Amino acid sequence: MIRTGRRRNDPGRRRVLTAGLAALGGGISLMMPPRSCAAQAVALRRLAAERGLVYGTTISAAQINNDQVFVDLVLQQAGLVVAENDMKWQDMDRGEQGKDDYGPADTVAAFALENDLVLRGHNLLWYYRTPNWFFDLATRQDQERAVVEHIQRLAGRYRGMIHSWDVVNEPIEPKDGRPDGLRTAVFLETLGPEYLDLAYRVARETDPSARLVVNEYDVELDTPDQETRRTALLSLLERMQRSGTPVDAVGIQAHLSCSGSPPFSPSRLRRFLADLAGLGLTIQITELDVTDENAPADPVMRDHLVADTYSRFLDAALDEAAVKVVVTWGLSDRHSWIVRRETNESKWRSDGVLPRPLPFDADLKPKPACEAIANALVHAPSRAAR
Ligand code: G3I
Repeated sequence: MIRTGRRRNDPGRRRVLTAGLAALGGGISLMMPPRSCAAQAVALRRLAAERGLVYGTTISAAQINNDQVFVDLVLQQAGLVVAENDMKWQDMDRGEQGKDDYGPADTVAAFALENDLVLRGHNLLWYYRTPNWFFDLATRQDQERAVVEHIQRLAGRYRGMIHSWDVVNEPIEPKDGRPDGLRTAVFLETLGPEYLDLAYRVARETDPSARLVVNEYDVELDTPDQETRRTALLSLLERMQRSGTPVDAVGIQAHLSCSGSPPFSPSRLRRFLADLAGLGLTIQITELDVTDENAPADPVMRDHLVADTYSRFLDAALDEAAVKVVVTWGLSDRHSWIVRRETNESKWRSDGVLPRPLPFDADLKPKPACEAIANALVHAPSRAAR
């Protein structure tokens, strides 16, 4: 494998690989010889902490209960965990208002507490994972009460334990045609855009020490659509600040693809992050992963394309001192939503080959992506932690 020292430094192999990558994407460069994650002395959590950053990953109650070797890797590498699904309303729902099952969420929270890990909360409201019964609530008042009680119960249960809550997940969708760029979906449809103010105020009252985050996707690339999404997100944040809605941070999901298209512009990303920082907000990279749906099947080639995408994104993102947190949406290809083919079909490979989107492979061995993240952390400017 390319990650072993001898072959990584083999100039003949490097030339072949360079030619292959150039033919594929154009302008894709091979990484510098990496700090080897394989040495295992390198823990991403430590490299991050040395720069004032927190590095973390998703986890689930099922993984905590059933996959000890994976858990050991999480403890070695991550300083932060976030429940991939266990704190989502629909995942906790048992079909009846007010009767949610907090068991899996409690397992994740206890795991973080016992192991002295930072705990992110994902999420309080997400149109996509809202219990079915919510849609049957007849009046605005009923919906408002359900939203308030849900936030009070969930944020209240983990009060004082949560570093940051994704209060509203994915509120932006300019394609829905509203002048304010907000997504037209449950919550907004009945409660109006004021649902955002309600959610953030209740979250603040319930857990004053949690940073309150607006978490959004498709704001990383240099395309007209994503530019529109960035503009809508900035406008939303400005409106929230003007009206006194408590918001502390922006979550940039960063579900990237190594296809090289649509294009990524480091300077465009830097400008956007500077604009967010200019609002006095901190920034979290909340769901980073790199899919390989259009890459050749050869795992060595794919791993390098994926790693190169991690490098280019993080090198630009971490230049911004307001970025305080980097979370990959999983740590190992053993547990990835994209490998499990759960949503977003356009990111699935069509040839049946398993995707390789995360820093460690399915056997928990570090990949070039791990080395790319390590290198980006090592070269990131130091910042005040927050
Ligand atoms: O819980 C059922 C389980 O009982 C059943 O056996 C299984 C069979 O398919 O499905 C399970 O539910 C799945 C759940 O993940 C848990 O594995 C859902 O079908 C599936 O839709 C769900 O996908 C999650 C998706 O969000 C929707 O909640 C992914 O794991 C999760 O990675 C993904 O994460 C989202 C972020 O929350 C927000 N940003 C985008 C990101 C990727 O889509």
